[in-house]
Amino acid sequence: MIRILAVETSCDETAAAVVEDGRRILSNVVASQVELHARYGGVFPEIASRAHVEAIVPVIEQAMRAAHLGFDDLDAVAVTYGPGLAGSLLVGVNAAKGLALGRNLPLVGVNHLEAHIYAHWLEVESEGAATSSEAGGEEGLEFPLLALIVSGGHTELIHVRGHGQYEYLGGTLDDAAGEAFDKVGRLLGLPYPGGPSIEEAAQDGNPRAFQFPRAWLDDSYDFSFSGLKTAVLRAVERYSDPPQGRLLADLAASFQAAVVDVLSAKSARAAEERGATAVLLSGGVSANQALRAATAERADVPVHYPPPILCTDNAAMVGACAHRHFVAGERAGWDLDVVPGLRLV
Ligand code: KG4
Ligand code: ZN
Repeated sequence: MIRILAVETSCDETAAAVVEDGRRILSNVVASQVELHARYGGVFPEIASRAHVEAIVPVIEQAMRAAHLGFDDLDAVAVTYGPGLAGSLLVGVNAAKGLALGRNLPLVGVNHLEAHIYAHWLEVESEGAATSSEAGGEEGLEFPLLALIVSGGHTELIHVRGHGQYEYLGGTLDDAAGEAFDKVGRLLGLPYPGGPSIEEAAQDGNPRAFQFPRAWLDDSYDFSFSGLKTAVLRAVERYSDPPQGRLLADLAASFQAAVVDVLSAKSARAAEERGATAVLLSGGVSANQALRAATAERADVPVHYPPPILCTDNAAMVGACAHRHFVAGERAGWDLDVVPGLRLV
């Protein structure tokens, strides 16, 4: 039995979790800074790092208490070292280093994007489990897989050949999918973060009310959302006040449909072309119900999506990912530094 304490501070969530054998979540604590950043309509980096400094020790203590474990019961400490905001990553990396050094535990560095993919190997309680097929990770997953990582900072289609074997198929040429949701949320006068706000506003809207552009970019697996964002801006500018009621719902639904259309179509096509056995939706935007439904409808293979708490940033996914590296004998040195621009491939 291998138990890893994982720490995640790459953006605006201070998170710690204890994960057993890369699958079982013994605890999963997330302190969100959303309210702090809401008034700026986005993440304010210096405020984020200061909030991490305040929250990191209580969050780690809470994760240990909830797991009913002492530090002597741990086999390693894992931490996200990139990609993300430098000042935010530094808080987690230094906390993890201090803990590992003080407790004489090995340190494992984790790539945040890879961790989003490994959220799929975590066991989820069957009640409320939100996978379209059998929940429960590993046993249910066979390589090759097709991962769509859609978050506030990334939109990437990845062909996963095996553990740690990634082929980059395409990504965004401008805004990330989550970033587009956040920016359009602001245009529509909705609270930050835009993703959940737009999804809620879209509930009663007509997704065909506005014909917003889809950037298909020929046969490539790349994405572009800046033209769509401009099209929404033009539509909003036609009205003097922030849109409300029916108009707001239609704008939100039509924007969401345009994003979902391209993401789901390219994921389904990539899965077919690469002979993937399943599509793994990962990252904050994969909490979106319309994206889940459209991808499940288009793909010939099962589409998996973790429960919302494991889609958005959390440390349990970092623990799941760290487990693979730990059992492969990988250890970070005491000189582990943050890499804000870290890539998966
Ligand atoms: O993975 P994540 O928590 O943090 C990053 O690594 O960036 O993703 C956050 C992003 C935000 O842009 C947020 O608006 C988006 O995920 N998001 C959603 C939904 N929930 C979160 N986008 C669309 N629909 C949602 N339900
Ligand atoms: Zn993330």
